[in-house]
Amino acid sequence: MARESTPKKRLEGKAAIITGGASGIGEATARLFAEHGARAVVIADVQDQLGEQVAASIGDRAAFKHCDVTDEDQVKAVVEWTVQTYGCLDVMFSNAGIIGRTTSIMDLDLKGMDLLYSVNVRGMAAALKHAGKAMVDGGVRGSIVCTTSIAAAVGGVSPHDYCLTKHAVLGLVRSTCSELGKHGIRVNCVSPYGVATPLLSLALRDNGFEGDTGDIEDLCAQLSNLKGVVLRSEHVAEAVLFLASDEAAFVSGHNLAVDGGFTVVNHDFKIFP
Ligand SMILES: NC(=O)c1ccc[n+]([C@@H]2O[C@H](COP(=O)([O-])OP(=O)(O)OC[C@H]3O[C@@H](n4cnc5c(N)ncnc54)[C@H](O)[C@@H]3O)[C@@H](O)[C@H]2O)c1
Repeated sequence: MARESTPKKRLEGKAAIITGGASGIGEATARLFAEHGARAVVIADVQDQLGEQVAASIGDRAAFKHCDVTDEDQVKAVVEWTVQTYGCLDVMFSNAGIIGRTTSIMDLDLKGMDLLYSVNVRGMAAALKHAGKAMVDGGVRGSIVCTTSIAAAVGGVSPHDYCLTKHAVLGLVRSTCSELGKHGIRVNCVSPYGVATPLLSLALRDNGFEGDTGDIEDLCAQLSNLKGVVLRSEHVAEAVLFLASDEAAFVSGHNLAVDGGFTVVNHDFKIFP
């Protein structure tokens, strides 16, 4: 039997919101969602100029909405705007995140930790709350995907408070997939290894690393378990697309690691080949 020559569009007709969609993983995902036929990709971010530019470069199907995820009213407003404008919300990619300063636990800046918590945990909770409500009210069997990190699985790869927030997101996903599953709504997360985005660049600079994007990619490749491929935002976007699409129809409560095996290998104890 002849195979179809045109690749299948996996989000045909879906309306999606992407928090943190102006840069890095969120931006790559916005582009991929549009390529895969999403009829609406709403980029929700605090970087207005960049967000507008990304939306304009994608075209008519993308829109930018200013949204600071630390403010629940702003998250609610973006969700309501999306439902009013496009009729429903099918996909929420809750991805906005920041990284804190690296310090010893004995010097932990608790005020800084509160800010981190308000974006990485409260922001994710607000996105889940309002997306979940919109999907339940609209009778939509939607998909919610949250960005965690390898720091949700292992310690020693990020600042302490960042590790805490990413573990919290994993807990939030596991807990809410139970309740929302009753409505046919899937909730999953994606856990990337290091990607050379502004977030990682900031974290490394804080630790005295002065390289450019290429240098960051070299460093990530050097520390990676899987050789011969450098993790890019586009690879993470492919994993998010899978979780968002109907191809993951029975996948819920899952933490999809995009880490080349990093979190399941003991890096200091390689006696066996
Ligand atoms: N880059 C990595 O190595 C890596 C690894 C694992 C997980 N992550 C996670 O991936 C996600 C995306 O980060 P990235 O690496 O693409 O970084 P990035 O800095 O390129 O993108 C993060 C985006 O989030 C936005 N943002 C920050 N605070 C916000 C707020 N209060 N409200 C709305 N938007 C806000 C930023 O403006 C930015 O556009 C984050 O949750 C991060 O923790 C990144």
